[in-house]
Amino acid sequence: MSITRITSKSPQETRSAATALKPRLKPGAVLALHGDLGAGKTCFVQGLADALGCAEPVTSPTFTLLHEYPGDLPLFHADLYRMDSADEVQRAGILEYLDAGGVLAIEWADRAAALLPAATIHVRISTGDEPNTRFIEIEELNPQ
Ligand SMILES: Nc1ncnc2c1ncn2[C@@H]1O[C@H](COP(=O)(O)OP(=O)(O)OP(=O)(O)O)[C@@H](O)[C@H]1O
Ligand SMILES: [Mg+2]
Repeated sequence: MSITRITSKSPQETRSAATALKPRLKPGAVLALHGDLGAGKTCFVQGLADALGCAEPVTSPTFTLLHEYPGDLPLFHADLYRMDSADEVQRAGILEYLDAGGVLAIEWADRAAALLPAATIHVRISTGDEPNTRFIEIEELNPQ
């Protein structure tokens, strides 16, 4: 297990922290994003989209549950904020994207904690005292 800690001072730095994960973004990769409303989870996913060469801008999927962005690999961006249980997540079909040949990024992933593969990369984002400061913690089981 490895934990990387990054202090971000701007949305651009948060995107760059995500883009730096490019070597990990293989088919079947899963990233679980944790953090309060407005922490910067979607911003981080925008950096993943940059890394994957997705042309279409990433927006919040809160009302649609999952967006697919074509790129070098497809990026599947899910937001489970409105899900109440792992059962509901399962019924919604999110798990089908685990082995769909792309990268699955899940906001509010705690709603599906029990369903996530062991190799899931956990990204925890929290706010600091300064309005634009974010503390980003990236936890990986076996980083390569
Ligand atoms: N260092 C930073 N990193 C990321 N976002 C920042 C930073 N500083 C300020 N912000 C602002 O914080 C907000 C983050 O919004 P974002 O939609 O990414 O949050 P979120 O965690 O996805 O929230 P939600 O749970 O509502 O989906 C944006 O308005 C962004 O401009
Ligand atoms: Mg979001």
